[in-house]
Amino acid sequence: MNKYNICVVGSGYVGLVTGSCLAELGHRVVCVDSDRKKLSALKAGKIPIYEPGLPEIIKRCRKLGRLHFAASVKEGLNPPGQRADVVFIAVGTPPRADGSADLSAVEAVAEEIAKNIKDYTVVVDKSTVPVETGDWVSRTISRFNKKGVPYDVVSNPEFLSEGTAVKDFLNPDRIVLGVTSARAEKVMRGLYASLPGPVIVTDVKSAELIKHASNSFLATKISFINAVSALCEKVGADVSQVAHGMGLDKRIGPLFLRPGIGFGGFCFPKDLEAFYWISKQKGYDFSLLKAVKDINEFQKSWVIRKVEEKLWNLEGKTIALLGLAFKPHTDDMRFAPSVDIAQMLSQRRVKIRATDPVAMPRAQEMPAMKGVTFCRNAYECVKGADCLVLITEWPQFKDLDLKRAFKIMRTPLLLDGRNLYDPAKARAAGFTYCGVGK
Ligand code: UGA
Repeated sequence: MNKYNICVVGSGYVGLVTGSCLAELGHRVVCVDSDRKKLSALKAGKIPIYEPGLPEIIKRCRKLGRLHFAASVKEGLNPPGQRADVVFIAVGTPPRADGSADLSAVEAVAEEIAKNIKDYTVVVDKSTVPVETGDWVSRTISRFNKKGVPYDVVSNPEFLSEGTAVKDFLNPDRIVLGVTSARAEKVMRGLYASLPGPVIVTDVKSAELIKHASNSFLATKISFINAVSALCEKVGADVSQVAHGMGLDKRIGPLFLRPGIGFGGFCFPKDLEAFYWISKQKGYDFSLLKAVKDINEFQKSWVIRKVEEKLWNLEGKTIALLGLAFKPHTDDMRFAPSVDIAQMLSQRRVKIRATDPVAMPRAQEMPAMKGVTFCRNAYECVKGADCLVLITEWPQFKDLDLKRAFKIMRTPLLLDGRNLYDPAKARAAGFTYCGVGK
């Protein structure tokens, strides 16, 4: 297998996982980040994100001399005695107020790359971007590439889920390569040669659309089952049974049909918005995406509706939130449903207690979580509460001793926002139990 010299610009979630895993495959990688604080933490062996398996890979690859960190694109592209064959753009594309993606960081990196490449370089867009970004990157590079150094732009979207990102990288369902030349295709195939999974080679725009369409489709599946769950509650059906029955059809599949209090994270909400925005900008009103978003927003109010149904007024009640991260095995609080739920509850003068195995430090920093009492563990959290709301399905919470929780709560109401518990067991422990769509 050919070993390549790689520069990854942006050492955030996507860049750090991508760079580290490429080093794990045997390539020589320099991860770049302009944030000095983050860089010195990384150099000191401190990993800024919680991602299972990642610290071990970083430690091993650094020891083997295959993974380095640098402060600038110039340094990352031209480390001592080397030159990057491939440069990944993995910087953030945060949402603007109108829902479109802010691509200014991508543009700035493209300009830097253009000014610092010395020989043929494959420029890979890894950041999640709207269709036609590859064209803009290419135009930007040609504008600042005064010496006419040859290059190719490739779209190689990532399909990593937080919490399982390392596993996802090393065992991909597919590797998508949007290329413009056989030369770039050869390099990209070489880069991933040791990984299993099919390689899809296509044009740049199609590759860009695969990413946005995939995330939006997954979000659609979740909103669909959440809408079905609302109907189940109205007629007394069980959404778990419905989802099971649907999922056995191979054309539908069982995954991403888990109802809950809404999807969150930095990908689905933002990509859904950006996909809707770019479709409209291109002249197509992709209204299905708007409905997916609206259903998700409504779903977040499930907790409020249920508490009112069971306990009458929210004002003055104490509610315990188990879990804060947008999903288990991550400390990511970005667009976490817990934040919207906490805001809705505090507007109604609810006393909020909360706990999470890893996301508490991040949650404590958020202005939206001001006023929340953070607790060391689930029992401390539910003590004296009128309602326990399961927000994030961490395995620790699944093992909760419900009888013990029942004894220390003021009112034994359990709102299971992720259908984690066995309703019969919860009721046997003394709880009034409500699951989503049950
Ligand atoms: C998502 C995609 O799954 C990845 O393939 C993609 O690469 C990534 O976005 C990205 O674009 O970077 P991620 O946001 O880490 O990954 O998390 P998911 O596991 O997809 O979950 C997203 C949200 O949907 C969570 O809040 C989760 O609780 C919710 N969800 C998921 C449900 O409510 N029901 C389900 O059945 C599945």
